Amino acid sequence: MPKPSPMMKSSFTQFCVLLLLIISKTSAFQNFTGHKLIGMVPRSPDEVMALRNFMDDPEVDFWLEPTHELQNVTVHVNPEAVQKLEGTLRDMGLQYYTITDDLEKWIEREREENYPGSHLQGRTTGFAFDVYHPLDEIVAYLDDVSRKYPNITKLLNMGDTYEGNIIYLLKISSGGNDTRPAVWIDAGIHSREWIAPATALYMINHLLVNYGNDKYVTNLIDTHDWYIMPLVNPDGYLHTWNWNRLWRKNRALAPGFPGVLICRGTDPNRNFDIFFGGPSTSSTPCSSIYKGDHPFSEAESSAIRDGVMAIRDRLLTYFSLHSFSQLWMTPHGYTTLKAPDFKEHMELLTVAITAVEAANGMHYKYGPSAQTLYATSGSASDWVYDVAGVRYSFSVELRDRGVFGFLLPRTEIIPTSEETWAGITAIVSHLQAKEKAKSTSTTNSSTATTVATTTNTESLNTTVTS
Ligand SMILES: *[C@@H]1O[C@H](CO)[C@@H](O)[C@H](O)[C@H]1NC(C)=O
Ligand SMILES: *[C@@H]1O[C@H](CO)[C@@H](O)[C@H](O)[C@H]1NC(C)=O
Ligand SMILES: *[C@@H]1O[C@H](CO)[C@@H](O)[C@H](O)[C@H]1NC(C)=O
Ligand SMILES: *[C@@H]1O[C@H](CO)[C@@H](O)[C@H](O)[C@H]1NC(C)=O
Ligand SMILES: *[C@@H]1O[C@H](CO)[C@@H](O)[C@H](O)[C@H]1NC(C)=O
Ligand SMILES: *[C@@H]1O[C@H](CO)[C@@H](O)[C@H](O)[C@H]1NC(C)=O
Ligand SMILES: [Zn+2]
Repeated sequence: MPKPSPMMKSSFTQFCVLLLLIISKTSAFQNFTGHKLIGMVPRSPDEVMALRNFMDDPEVDFWLEPTHELQNVTVHVNPEAVQKLEGTLRDMGLQYYTITDDLEKWIEREREENYPGSHLQGRTTGFAFDVYHPLDEIVAYLDDVSRKYPNITKLLNMGDTYEGNIIYLLKISSGGNDTRPAVWIDAGIHSREWIAPATALYMINHLLVNYGNDKYVTNLIDTHDWYIMPLVNPDGYLHTWNWNRLWRKNRALAPGFPGVLICRGTDPNRNFDIFFGGPSTSSTPCSSIYKGDHPFSEAESSAIRDGVMAIRDRLLTYFSLHSFSQLWMTPHGYTTLKAPDFKEHMELLTVAITAVEAANGMHYKYGPSAQTLYATSGSASDWVYDVAGVRYSFSVELRDRGVFGFLLPRTEIIPTSEETWAGITAIVSHLQAKEKAKSTSTTNSSTATTVATTTNTESLNTTVTS
């Protein structure tokens, strides 16, 4: 056997060093000291395109994607990449401003607010709805409510994740033997969007504590079954608490990629079997919008598929909660062509926005997804609409509009939850009122028909008799 040459030896050493670097870089705690958040407003389609060219750069993390001219763009860049980006912006003559030059300060502020002392140490006090909770507390809360309200709740396991966490679905129903119209709410498919699961937990609590006490909520539960999946992506969420606050995807390793050691995670909201791999998705596992190996390769998207398919015949309306931007959206994400239900979608969005704004005076925009936000393919709300056939399918981007972005202060959890709940219940009540009007008018006309038929029969019998 030939001896390894010095050349081979040194390249082997290099390989080991590289491997160690990669491993330490991927599993180490991410400290965001010196990371910048930069804001800008592109003035022309060319500038939008130039900014979009940075979207493949793993060092440049877009919080608000460049989509249209005159729309805010927000970018998070690490200290190594900041000069290159700022150089390009200066060359383009595009003005930019620094929102913060030390994201770590924001993250540590959040940690202190939500986890005084140490963010890695569990809390034992009661469950508060105005703080962000780590995964174990959320799981314990769901377990608690399912015991405390055994008559109207059922905690369902919708699958195990790559890292062995359970994806929970809480069913709230006061009877009806699975015949009532259903409402679905899911949150946290993107793990850094902490306000979304916090809002879903608020809704669970609001329904349960008010059932039997508040007429409106009691009616909502007595007329509908509620299915709430408050944390679709527990693996990613755990990662945002323990390792990298700004992680978006799940934590799965893509099969068959040499880059697996560096790049983990699939975006479960690009993994549905609808326009899979279309606009605004990526085939490389390093991308934050990596679509995954094949449709429904991920536990998170499969959990939503299975839950929705099981109740599709009576699923009245579907809501997927995200952050941030303050938008209420309907399908489609993969095309700017109008959906068949466009008119009714706009009617419902108007109803929602009116209720949302009435709650706390906060302004939200609305419209079909691809026109309002940006293209998304393989997304949950498109799949629920097109494939599961649920006509009223929504996705909602919660607060804020770019001031704090994903690091939304805990003081905004309750107001965000209140206004979002107002929007969802406004839609449900509006649909309920429409349904009632329809069935009343059907009853009226069918009563009339019955009367007429009886009259005819009588006269017929009379005729026969006489
Ligand atoms: C992050 O790094 C800075 C500067 O090195 C340090 O002062 C700070 O304590 C670190 N934060 C954490 C949470 O490790
Ligand atoms: C752009 O961002 C700023 C804060 O950075 C915000 O005040 C403003 O409302 C945003 N504009 C839009 C159109 O979202
Ligand atoms: C659950 O329902 C049973 C039977 O209807 C009733 O006796 C019991 O009080 C209910 N429990 C709760 C916690 O509401
Ligand atoms: C509920 O539905 C199932 C099948 O759908 C039926 O077998 C059962 O008898 C129903 N129970 C009640 C109380 O109506
Ligand atoms: C149904 O009939 C009742 C009584 O005649 C009437 O008050 C109600 O407005 C009717 N509803 C519709 C939808 O026509
Ligand atoms: C009319 O006659 C039919 C059979 O011819 C009978 O079944 C029905 O009850 C009669 N209706 C009335 C109102 O007598
Ligand atoms: Zn999202």
